[in-house]
Amino acid sequence: MNYPYQIKTFEEYQSAYKRSVEDPEGFWAEIAEHFVWRKKWDKVLEWNFTEPKVEWFKGAKLNITESLIDRHLATKGNDPAFIWEPNNPEDRTRVVTYNRLHKRVCQVAQMLKNNGVKKGDRVCIYMGMVPELAYAVLGCARIGAIHSVIFGGFSAQSIADRLEDAKAEFIITCDGAYRGAKDIPLKSVIDDALIGNKVVKRVIVFTRTRTPISMLKGRDVWWEDEMEHAEHQVEKDGIVSFPAEEMDAEDPLFILYTSGSTGKPKGVVHTCAGYMVYTNYTFINTFQYKPEDVHFCTADIGWITGHSYIVYGPLSAGATSLMFEGVPTWPDAGRFWSIVDKYKVNILYTAPTAIRSLMGFGLGPVHGHDLSSLTTLGTVGEPINEEAWHWYDEHIGKKKSPIVDTWWQTETGGILISNLAGVTPSKPTYATLPLPGVQPILVDENGKEIEGNNVSGNLCIKAPWPSILRTTYGDHERCRLNYFSTYENLYFTGDGALRDENGFYRITGRVDDVLNVSGHRIGTAEVENAINMHAGVVESAVVGYPHEVKGQGIYAYVIFNGRHNDEELTRKDILQTVTRIIGPIAKPDKIQFVSGLPKTRSGKIMRRILRKIAEGETQNLGDTTTLLDPAVVDEIKNGRI
Ligand code: WTA
Repeated sequence: MNYPYQIKTFEEYQSAYKRSVEDPEGFWAEIAEHFVWRKKWDKVLEWNFTEPKVEWFKGAKLNITESLIDRHLATKGNDPAFIWEPNNPEDRTRVVTYNRLHKRVCQVAQMLKNNGVKKGDRVCIYMGMVPELAYAVLGCARIGAIHSVIFGGFSAQSIADRLEDAKAEFIITCDGAYRGAKDIPLKSVIDDALIGNKVVKRVIVFTRTRTPISMLKGRDVWWEDEMEHAEHQVEKDGIVSFPAEEMDAEDPLFILYTSGSTGKPKGVVHTCAGYMVYTNYTFINTFQYKPEDVHFCTADIGWITGHSYIVYGPLSAGATSLMFEGVPTWPDAGRFWSIVDKYKVNILYTAPTAIRSLMGFGLGPVHGHDLSSLTTLGTVGEPINEEAWHWYDEHIGKKKSPIVDTWWQTETGGILISNLAGVTPSKPTYATLPLPGVQPILVDENGKEIEGNNVSGNLCIKAPWPSILRTTYGDHERCRLNYFSTYENLYFTGDGALRDENGFYRITGRVDDVLNVSGHRIGTAEVENAINMHAGVVESAVVGYPHEVKGQGIYAYVIFNGRHNDEELTRKDILQTVTRIIGPIAKPDKIQFVSGLPKTRSGKIMRRILRKIAEGETQNLGDTTTLLDPAVVDEIKNGRI
């Protein structure tokens, strides 16, 4: 497969960019020609940001799996679509060819159909990083069901909330998952999430760890049995087929829940055609993928990065995508490097938090692994600091592999601002320039555009790109309020950014009440709600503080009036509560007990002050005269941990 729209020089980037702004419809129509359509579009784009309403490739019909799988079968049926590296390096690895993937996805689609799943139904997927997770996602797409993958680190309560919000009737899970030295009991978490649930009709369970689990008659079935049955239905005389459901360009493809500044995560909805075209375009251009390259994205498919750059983007390009079940530090901190060596990985895409954590182990684990196959490195999820950038460049890329610093979000579906590997200039800690089709602007508090260079402000986008979120599931008004109402006619990202003298963007972090802990988005309100669920807690306030490895740590100020003989134990109780309500990823790193919180006379918590104290700044706290009780600040300062 060659990629006629792969940008090869800086000049080509400039002209593609110019064209994409002047004639977005012509620009994207040309790219969209390179996919499988049942019917082409009537209109490339219709939009307004007031409702908001965005429709790309309006009137077109397709099934995304035909562009991801079927079209490659004739030319690369025996080429690897996925390479799977298990958690335990001594276990058998798996290579899934496009032919095999086709068969498995047809089987899953048939299995779903046999179990009553229809187009438009929501299927919740809660699995470890096994190839079956990718088959499940694609099987849903094949029959037009809307998948909603939930990361394995979320608790039963979080799953229950998401199931309810999505009104999901079907679940695909595993008995358990391996993660480093741990076994995670996924099915048992699902069982807890389903207590009292009357909506879920079917739970399909894939065997991974063969942990003892409960299987309820009439509700729970084994994946293996169902797949075997489906195999006989989809394969006749050696020919495999399962007719893909015809979808409208704007039919939902998936829901992915993400945190915002309010207490409840929202279900970001992406649709079929725009998401397909944009993830493909950005995959091919940002990473400069060449046929036969091995692409290793270390994310979990429970996050958007895994959706777009392990599954959808790479497959639509006929690429080989490496899927890893484990963690970077087990059995030792050389795990990534041994995988790179073992499979001769060309593109490595990971998160700054992983780089920082591996840096902490020194160069020992890097040595002894041949990393010469690497041509491109990438980062995503949070701002990368200068030190981590240089370590990655020197010790992993050996100064010959460009680093792409890719800025984007669950809501954007694909990469919006990034250098293109080796094609456009890079600058440490800068995401640099927008991809074609993306029009970033910086605005001040009042929404006034900040023009020129060497400026900073709130980052917004002026016009839609093909994979912008369409709505938040079940609540369109929430989507409008969250993203399109802060500034008129703009998509507001929630991030702050600066633009240097060359017009390069550097993302400086969230400007709303959202934390970014190890590249995971967590709303402060969400954590506060969870802490407040503890029986002895009166009130709490949560802020972020700089953390050497995680980027940001979670600092909680808690007013507690329960029995309180042992502070350490109370802290542990609170951590347990948060783990129950959200999951271990949201556990505060520090909990300080306080007798009051700094509030204005109107009762608003002055987070600015709490943030400064958490950061270790105790002198210049700014104006505290508007506080109801200024004395509380001294107490908090003195009790800082
Ligand atoms: C942050 C992940 C700096 C940002 C794809 C954004 C980044 C949030 C970068 C989205 C980057 C992501 N540099 N910050 N290269 N990439 N972010 O939805 O704050 O999990 O708003 O999507 O991560 O996180 P999400």
